Amino acid sequence: MNTLIDKYNVPGPRYTSYPTVPFWQSDGFGENAWLSSLTDTFRSTNTATGISLYIHLPYCESLCTFCGCNKRITKNHQVEKPYIQAVLKEWEMYLKYFSEKPQITEIHLGGGTPSFFAPEMLDLLINGIVKQTSISTDYEFSFEGHPNNTSYQHLKTLYDLGFKRVSFGVQDYDPIVQKAIHRIQPFENVKQVTEWSREIGYESISHDLVFGLPFQQISSIQDTISKTIELQPDRLAFYSYAHVPWIKGNGQRGFRDEDLPSAALKRQLYETGRTLFEENGYAEIGMDHFALPNDSMYKAMQNGTLNRNFMGYTTTQTKVLLGLGVSSISDSWTAFSQNVKDIDEYQTMIENDQLPILKGHILTDEDLTIRQQILDIMCQFATSWKDDEFSFEERQVLFEKLAGFKQDGLLTYDENSLQVNPAGRPFIRNICMAFDKRMLQENTERKLFSQTV
Ligand SMILES: C[S@@+](CC[C@H](N)C(=O)[O-])C[C@H]1O[C@@H](n2cnc3c(N)ncnc32)[C@H](O)[C@@H]1O
Ligand code: SF4
Repeated sequence: MNTLIDKYNVPGPRYTSYPTVPFWQSDGFGENAWLSSLTDTFRSTNTATGISLYIHLPYCESLCTFCGCNKRITKNHQVEKPYIQAVLKEWEMYLKYFSEKPQITEIHLGGGTPSFFAPEMLDLLINGIVKQTSISTDYEFSFEGHPNNTSYQHLKTLYDLGFKRVSFGVQDYDPIVQKAIHRIQPFENVKQVTEWSREIGYESISHDLVFGLPFQQISSIQDTISKTIELQPDRLAFYSYAHVPWIKGNGQRGFRDEDLPSAALKRQLYETGRTLFEENGYAEIGMDHFALPNDSMYKAMQNGTLNRNFMGYTTTQTKVLLGLGVSSISDSWTAFSQNVKDIDEYQTMIENDQLPILKGHILTDEDLTIRQQILDIMCQFATSWKDDEFSFEERQVLFEKLAGFKQDGLLTYDENSLQVNPAGRPFIRNICMAFDKRMLQENTERKLFSQTV
């Protein structure tokens, strides 16, 4: 296993999109091109599947020194209302372009920390969003809560607004790890918010854990996992720590590189977690996730309907994902668009009646084909292709890579399809990279991604 880790532990994307953000091409992209793609897909899919909304709520009270999210640290809660108003205005701007009332299938509040905002602010936000829409019968509203500041009232208010799913950032319970990542968070806090959620009626409670954090040991992760299992969350995200210290403002230098587990130990941490989860009735879903058999994500995996987008794995099948708020990414299936990443710039653009778009990409037919193949690998651990989807040279390159993976026991393949073996699952990002034509074409050493293992 260690040789495989040495061989495959290279920088690589997590494939929440194809092409991945660093490979977006600005040629042909602009506000008009984005709106045309968005409104076309909206028109053809709104009645059948509805749309998804991702709303980025960027504030946190305290900086965790491992965090790779777009956030701003402040204790000043006066920022809440102007930010919510800006998001609502952005939504109003989009509503003008839609040919009919949007049907909302999914809302996800991410961050930053949604529970930084007072319950009445979240109420203002959601009521402002849904008032000019219809809601799908099988809608899914979810949010990310910080166990240190999610109150009973947050949970109750959001539940009454239709939220039935919540995920709590747990990360790790070991005091040494917590100190290193500057996130002191007692077990009692997580227990309390988990019990409140259950009492109120949330249908799916998820905990986020991270492996590969500074000072993590096999014994400490075993303890974290046994505490987690005690609380019986329906879902678990078990993220590989993405060490991306070059992202400005991350403050990831709260510990030294030498304090991080080696690649081999990091893999053992993951294997330890996976074994314990599986022994306790959780099934592995795609990459990074586990779920109990009663959870809809498990059912989606079983019946082949699991999906993946910028929010990660999802059970919904929408083709339009509109991202509102600073740094949010939108997806119309044939185009991507990202908002500006600075809060002040975001708010100024909205005040000036401008859509706060930073950059984007219009997908070519070839991008769309590869996008589907990568999605299939990430969600079903298998994919297929037609003869005419690759040129002779591309087939040569692909088959050479597949032969290498096969030799290492990671997958099986024939002329037109591949199937990832259980041994290949830890290397799923590497397998997707064999299909990533834009990355292969650039052939440059890019320190833009975290390590794949
Ligand atoms: C926006 S936070 C969740 C809500 C809230 N801010 C909190 O921390 O509880 C999203 C999740 O991303 C994960 N995350 C953040 N930075 C990460 C990194 N560098 N590598 C891997 N996972 C990370 C953490 O598990 C975190 O809970
Ligand atoms: S992990 Fe969560 S609370 Fe900590 S800085 Fe990142 S977004 Fe904020």
